Amino acid sequence: MSIDMGKSTNKGTAMMKFAHQFQPNVILQDEYVSWFFDDSTAKSLQENSLNLNVEPVDDSQRFQQISYWYTILREKYCDEVIVDALASGCRQLLLLGSGYDTRFFRISAVRERATATFEVDLPETINNKKKYLSDKLGHIPEGLTLIPLDFNHDDLNSLDRYGFDNTLPTAYVWQGVSYYLPRESVSQVLDYIKSQMTPDSVLVFDCCSPLMTYKNDQVPGIASSIDQLSKIGEPYLFGMYSDEMKNWLEEKGFQNIEILQQDDLEDRVLHKRTLPSNMWYVVSAKV
Ligand SMILES: C[S@@+](CC[C@H](N)C(=O)[O-])C[C@H]1O[C@@H](n2cnc3c(N)ncnc32)[C@H](O)[C@@H]1O
Repeated sequence: MSIDMGKSTNKGTAMMKFAHQFQPNVILQDEYVSWFFDDSTAKSLQENSLNLNVEPVDDSQRFQQISYWYTILREKYCDEVIVDALASGCRQLLLLGSGYDTRFFRISAVRERATATFEVDLPETINNKKKYLSDKLGHIPEGLTLIPLDFNHDDLNSLDRYGFDNTLPTAYVWQGVSYYLPRESVSQVLDYIKSQMTPDSVLVFDCCSPLMTYKNDQVPGIASSIDQLSKIGEPYLFGMYSDEMKNWLEEKGFQNIEILQQDDLEDRVLHKRTLPSNMWYVVSAKV
């Protein structure tokens, strides 16, 4: 079985985090991600149906394994940024393009510090998530606000109406989203975040190299990924090399910009470098 994105990449990334729970060395524990899957998916992942820890038979399987590791390492890195931000006084957590994020439940500091958590995503995903949470818990927990919004068409300033307070130091997380948007929307979201951030706030997001946006022979397996994403209607529209990204963010007024490629993340957590460094990268920044 390959990772069946179904109709959405957010189910795909959640599935990778769920699959990880059945692997021999779990580096990202998530007791909650199972809420979004049925028993037959759990059973198949338990049987290692994604072939995550076998020698890849072809480029497309290798690509899938890299995507899996990147998803886990990125989640772990953003968790660290969030935990540090909360420890140094951030009082809100804004998860942009949150999909089936479980951090409100999973990161103990979020609950202990009663951190107001806002999850923003397209209306369909927000409705689905509300349904899953209501089925599981009977209600949406206090402190968690789910906001339907389209980054391409809606005004992010409307977050105020849901109780988001831009005067508070906030951890802004924009994980796994930038490459699905046109450059203009990426620019607008970054400008919005910059305009909201207090000096104690932190931004963490990820992006990819332009090589992820078209078929080429420098990223093995990219052709089948592009075909799969185009089939589900979520093609990559935006990519930027990391040095260009750093300059762009500086021009926008961000500071303390730190960029880590996949193999930097791998080195930090797993103390080895096997992942390619020309695919996705994470960025953290302040103002
Ligand atoms: C690959 S998923 C990542 C989900 C989650 N952040 C994670 O890392 O697992 C991309 C998310 O971005 C959301 N998204 C894509 N385009 C969007 C848009 N125009 N407005 C709001 N959300 C969008 C999708 O609905 C989806 O939940």
